Amino acid sequence: MKKLTLTLMCTAIISVGYCQKIGGGCEDCELMFEGIPEQLHWQTTLASPKEEGERMMISGTIYQKDGKTPAAGVILYVYHTDVKGEYKPAAAQKHGRRHGHLRGWMKTDAQGRYQFSTIRPAAYPNQRFAAHIHPIIKESKKNEYWIDEYQFEDDPLLTQKDLQNAQNRGGSGIIKLTKNEKGIWIGKRDITLGKNIPNYY
Ligand SMILES: [Fe+2]
Repeated sequence: MKKLTLTLMCTAIISVGYCQKIGGGCEDCELMFEGIPEQLHWQTTLASPKEEGERMMISGTIYQKDGKTPAAGVILYVYHTDVKGEYKPAAAQKHGRRHGHLRGWMKTDAQGRYQFSTIRPAAYPNQRFAAHIHPIIKESKKNEYWIDEYQFEDDPLLTQKDLQNAQNRGGSGIIKLTKNEKGIWIGKRDITLGKNIPNYY
Protein backbone atom coordinates (compact mmCIF):
# COMPACT_ATOMS: atom_id res chain seq x y z
CA MET A 1 0.00 0.00 0.00
CA LYS A 2 2.84 2.31 0.94
CA LYS A 3 4.50 1.54 -2.37
CA LEU A 4 1.29 2.19 -4.29
CA THR A 5 0.85 5.58 -2.59
CA LEU A 6 4.42 6.55 -3.43
CA THR A 7 3.98 5.41 -7.02
CA LEU A 8 0.82 7.48 -7.39
CA MET A 9 2.50 10.51 -5.84
CA CYS A 10 5.47 10.12 -8.15
CA THR A 11 3.24 9.73 -11.18
CA ALA A 12 1.47 12.95 -10.25
CA ILE A 13 4.60 15.04 -9.82
CA ILE A 14 7.02 13.38 -12.21
CA SER A 15 6.48 16.18 -14.70
CA VAL A 16 8.26 18.61 -12.39
CA GLY A 17 11.25 16.34 -12.09
CA TYR A 18 10.77 14.74 -8.68
CA CYS A 19 10.87 11.00 -8.06
CA GLN A 20 13.03 10.30 -11.06
CA LYS A 21 15.48 7.71 -10.00
CA ILE A 22 19.09 8.82 -9.98
CA GLY A 23 20.91 6.90 -12.70
CA GLY A 24 17.74 5.55 -14.29
CA GLY A 25 17.18 1.79 -14.43
CA CYS A 26 19.44 -0.35 -12.30
CA GLU A 27 18.81 -4.02 -12.89
CA ASP A 28 19.54 -6.21 -9.86
CA CYS A 29 21.12 -3.25 -8.06
CA GLU A 30 19.02 -3.96 -4.97
CA LEU A 31 21.06 -7.14 -4.55
CA MET A 32 23.83 -4.94 -3.21
CA PHE A 33 21.96 -4.77 0.08
CA GLU A 34 21.75 -8.53 0.51
CA GLY A 35 24.23 -9.60 3.15
CA ILE A 36 25.68 -6.11 3.56
CA PRO A 37 27.80 -6.00 6.75
CA GLU A 38 26.85 -3.54 9.49
CA GLN A 39 30.34 -2.12 9.63
CA LEU A 40 32.00 -1.15 6.39
CA HIS A 41 35.59 -0.07 5.89
CA TRP A 42 37.37 1.69 3.09
CA GLN A 43 39.33 -1.48 2.31
CA THR A 44 37.99 -4.96 1.67
CA THR A 45 38.98 -8.35 0.31
CA LEU A 46 36.66 -10.22 -2.06
CA ALA A 47 38.67 -13.37 -2.77
CA SER A 48 39.77 -15.86 -0.13
CA PRO A 49 43.35 -17.17 -0.29
CA LYS A 50 41.94 -20.38 -1.81
CA GLU A 51 40.33 -18.57 -4.75
CA GLU A 52 41.86 -19.53 -8.06
CA GLY A 53 43.21 -16.68 -10.17
CA GLU A 54 45.76 -13.92 -10.39
CA ARG A 55 45.71 -11.52 -7.45
CA MET A 56 44.63 -7.95 -8.14
CA MET A 57 44.24 -4.83 -6.02
CA ILE A 58 42.29 -1.78 -7.11
CA SER A 59 42.16 1.51 -5.30
CA GLY A 60 41.14 5.08 -5.84
CA THR A 61 39.41 8.14 -4.50
CA ILE A 62 35.76 9.02 -4.79
CA TYR A 63 35.16 12.73 -5.31
CA GLN A 64 32.12 14.92 -4.96
CA LYS A 65 30.45 16.21 -8.10
CA ASP A 66 33.04 19.00 -8.38
CA GLY A 67 35.65 16.33 -9.11
CA LYS A 68 37.97 17.80 -6.44
CA THR A 69 36.50 17.35 -2.97
CA PRO A 70 36.95 13.86 -1.51
CA ALA A 71 33.60 12.21 -0.72
CA ALA A 72 33.59 10.49 2.67
CA GLY A 73 31.10 7.81 3.73
CA VAL A 74 30.12 6.68 0.22
CA ILE A 75 29.38 2.99 -0.21
CA LEU A 76 30.94 1.27 -3.19
CA TYR A 77 29.72 -2.25 -3.91
CA VAL A 78 31.54 -4.37 -6.48
CA TYR A 79 31.05 -7.86 -7.89
CA HIS A 80 32.63 -9.83 -10.69
CA THR A 81 33.11 -13.18 -12.35
CA ASP A 82 35.56 -15.82 -11.25
CA VAL A 83 38.51 -17.16 -13.20
CA LYS A 84 36.14 -19.12 -15.44
CA GLY A 85 34.05 -16.05 -16.26
CA GLU A 86 31.13 -17.20 -14.13
CA TYR A 87 29.10 -15.61 -11.35
CA LYS A 88 29.21 -18.72 -9.26
CA PRO A 89 27.74 -18.45 -5.76
CA ALA A 90 29.54 -20.27 -2.97
CA ALA A 91 27.80 -23.43 -1.75
CA ALA A 92 26.77 -21.84 1.54
CA GLN A 93 26.06 -18.41 0.09
CA LYS A 94 22.65 -17.14 1.12
CA HIS A 95 22.68 -13.63 -0.26
CA GLY A 96 23.20 -12.04 -3.65
CA ARG A 97 23.64 -15.41 -5.33
CA ARG A 98 23.13 -13.95 -8.80
CA HIS A 99 26.20 -11.79 -8.23
CA GLY A 100 28.35 -14.81 -7.43
CA HIS A 101 30.66 -15.05 -4.45
CA LEU A 102 33.23 -12.45 -5.52
CA ARG A 103 31.41 -9.44 -4.14
CA GLY A 104 32.11 -6.86 -1.47
CA TRP A 105 31.48 -3.43 -0.01
CA MET A 106 33.56 -0.45 0.97
CA LYS A 107 32.76 2.86 2.61
CA THR A 108 35.09 5.70 1.73
CA ASP A 109 37.16 7.19 4.53
CA ALA A 110 37.62 10.91 5.26
CA GLN A 111 39.99 11.18 2.29
CA GLY A 112 37.42 9.54 0.00
CA ARG A 113 39.61 6.47 -0.41
CA TYR A 114 38.55 2.93 -1.28
CA GLN A 115 40.49 -0.24 -2.00
CA PHE A 116 39.63 -3.84 -2.79
CA SER A 117 41.73 -6.95 -3.18
CA THR A 118 40.47 -9.79 -5.33
CA ILE A 119 41.43 -11.91 -8.32
CA ARG A 120 41.47 -10.73 -11.90
CA PRO A 121 38.10 -11.70 -13.40
CA ALA A 122 37.79 -13.60 -16.65
CA ALA A 123 35.45 -12.70 -19.53
CA TYR A 124 32.17 -14.62 -19.83
CA PRO A 125 32.70 -18.09 -21.33
CA ASN A 126 31.19 -16.96 -24.67
CA GLN A 127 34.04 -14.42 -24.94
CA ARG A 128 31.65 -11.83 -26.35
CA PHE A 129 32.31 -9.18 -23.71
CA ALA A 130 35.47 -7.90 -22.14
CA ALA A 131 36.21 -8.92 -18.56
CA HIS A 132 34.70 -6.49 -16.10
CA ILE A 133 33.81 -5.62 -12.53
CA HIS A 134 30.35 -4.20 -11.80
CA PRO A 135 30.34 -1.23 -9.40
CA ILE A 136 27.29 0.25 -7.68
CA ILE A 137 27.37 3.48 -5.69
CA LYS A 138 25.20 4.23 -2.68
CA GLU A 139 25.37 7.70 -1.23
CA SER A 140 23.52 8.79 1.87
CA LYS A 141 19.95 9.93 1.11
CA LYS A 142 20.23 8.93 -2.57
CA ASN A 143 19.14 5.77 -4.34
CA GLU A 144 21.85 3.38 -5.48
CA TYR A 145 23.01 3.66 -9.08
CA TRP A 146 25.50 1.92 -11.34
CA ILE A 147 28.60 3.48 -12.81
CA ASP A 148 30.79 2.29 -15.71
CA GLU A 149 32.24 -1.14 -15.20
CA TYR A 150 35.90 -1.54 -14.43
CA GLN A 151 37.53 -2.90 -17.58
CA PHE A 152 41.15 -3.50 -18.38
CA GLU A 153 43.14 -1.63 -20.98
CA ASP A 154 45.17 -4.73 -21.93
CA ASP A 155 42.10 -6.94 -22.47
CA PRO A 156 42.06 -8.16 -26.11
CA LEU A 157 38.25 -8.35 -25.92
CA LEU A 158 37.99 -4.62 -25.26
CA THR A 159 37.09 -3.14 -28.64
CA GLN A 160 37.18 0.34 -30.12
CA LYS A 161 33.39 0.19 -30.15
CA ASP A 162 33.38 -0.49 -26.39
CA LEU A 163 35.58 2.55 -25.88
CA GLN A 164 33.41 4.75 -28.10
CA ASN A 165 30.18 3.58 -26.49
CA ALA A 166 31.39 4.04 -22.92
CA GLN A 167 29.08 6.33 -20.99
CA ASN A 168 31.82 7.21 -18.52
CA ARG A 169 29.37 7.15 -15.66
CA GLY A 170 31.34 8.25 -12.63
CA GLY A 171 34.27 8.80 -15.01
CA SER A 172 36.08 6.29 -17.19
CA GLY A 173 36.14 2.71 -15.90
CA ILE A 174 39.00 1.59 -18.10
CA ILE A 175 42.05 1.00 -16.01
CA LYS A 176 45.65 0.21 -16.69
CA LEU A 177 46.94 -2.74 -14.71
CA THR A 178 50.58 -3.19 -13.84
CA LYS A 179 52.14 -6.03 -11.90
CA ASN A 180 54.01 -5.15 -8.74
CA GLU A 181 57.07 -6.91 -7.34
CA LYS A 182 54.85 -9.53 -5.67
CA GLY A 183 53.14 -10.39 -8.95
CA ILE A 184 49.89 -8.65 -7.96
CA TRP A 185 48.00 -6.69 -10.60
CA ILE A 186 47.60 -3.12 -9.39
CA GLY A 187 45.02 -0.70 -10.77
CA LYS A 188 43.70 2.74 -9.92
CA ARG A 189 40.40 4.39 -10.65
CA ASP A 190 39.05 7.62 -9.25
CA ILE A 191 35.30 8.16 -9.33
CA THR A 192 33.37 11.42 -9.55
CA LEU A 193 29.91 11.25 -8.04
CA GLY A 194 27.12 12.16 -10.40
CA LYS A 195 29.36 12.45 -13.45
CA ASN A 196 27.27 11.49 -16.52
CA ILE A 197 24.59 10.14 -14.18
CA PRO A 198 21.02 10.98 -15.29
CA ASN A 199 18.75 12.76 -12.79
CA TYR A 200 21.63 13.39 -10.40
CA TYR A 201 21.14 16.22 -7.95
FE1 LIG B 1 28.76 -8.90 -15.81
